[in-house]
Amino acid sequence: MNEKRVVSDGVYKIEDDYYTLNLVPGESVYGEKLLQIDDFEYRRWDPNRSKLGAFLIKEKGLPFRHDSEILYLGAGDGTTISHLSDILTEGKIYAVEVAKNPYRNLLDLSKERKNIFPILADAGDPDLYKDMVGKVDIVYQDIAQRNQVGIFLKNLQFLKGERYGLLAVKCRSIDVAKSPEKTVEEAEEKLKDEGHKIHSKTGISRWQKDHTILLIS
Ligand SMILES: C[S@@+](CC[C@H](N)C(=O)[O-])C[C@H]1O[C@@H](n2cnc3c(N)ncnc32)[C@H](O)[C@@H]1O
Repeated sequence: MNEKRVVSDGVYKIEDDYYTLNLVPGESVYGEKLLQIDDFEYRRWDPNRSKLGAFLIKEKGLPFRHDSEILYLGAGDGTTISHLSDILTEGKIYAVEVAKNPYRNLLDLSKERKNIFPILADAGDPDLYKDMVGKVDIVYQDIAQRNQVGIFLKNLQFLKGERYGLLAVKCRSIDVAKSPEKTVEEAEEKLKDEGHKIHSKTGISRWQKDHTILLIS
């Protein structure tokens, strides 16, 4: 008998791993394990493939709800988004990706998962998609660019009031020569200078080398 516990809306801890309830039963999106319990199928969230999956392990829950609307920058081919799609059963995910190949995979994923709205655009130029994206509860960014903090700041305009931004800071992309600690400190300073509050700073290097996730409002 598997021991199952809800840790946050739509996220389950089963034995030692975290899972979401599969919105498209029978389909594994990136080779993740599927687990059948009673009449339900769960997808294992792999922290080595998803920074948010690593954040989940460290924080033991996520700030998303079944009806959250989110803007996701740096969607890739939808590995992490597939789990958010499982969680946000009555929500929306605006998924911005600049590269055509991953975008094509994202489009395929969105055919079965109707809460994903793929947008092919550069997140550094939010004017390109501001008419497609409404106000959202959370902005999440996972972009390996030198100016990742600047890109994130530009996109916080989409937040509804005092809601949350989650930034996966990829230190080595900002400055390969600087210590990761110093790079994160500088990212925090930039965000504070623009009037944002840092709620948590979560190191996920055990799974994703030199990455830290900042939760801000
Ligand atoms: C680390 S991968 C994303 C992985 C994905 N977030 C996940 O967890 O499944 C980073 C993605 O950001 C995209 N990217 C880089 N610069 C971008 C930009 N300026 N605007 C939008 N996407 C960008 C890359 O093409 C790449 O697919």
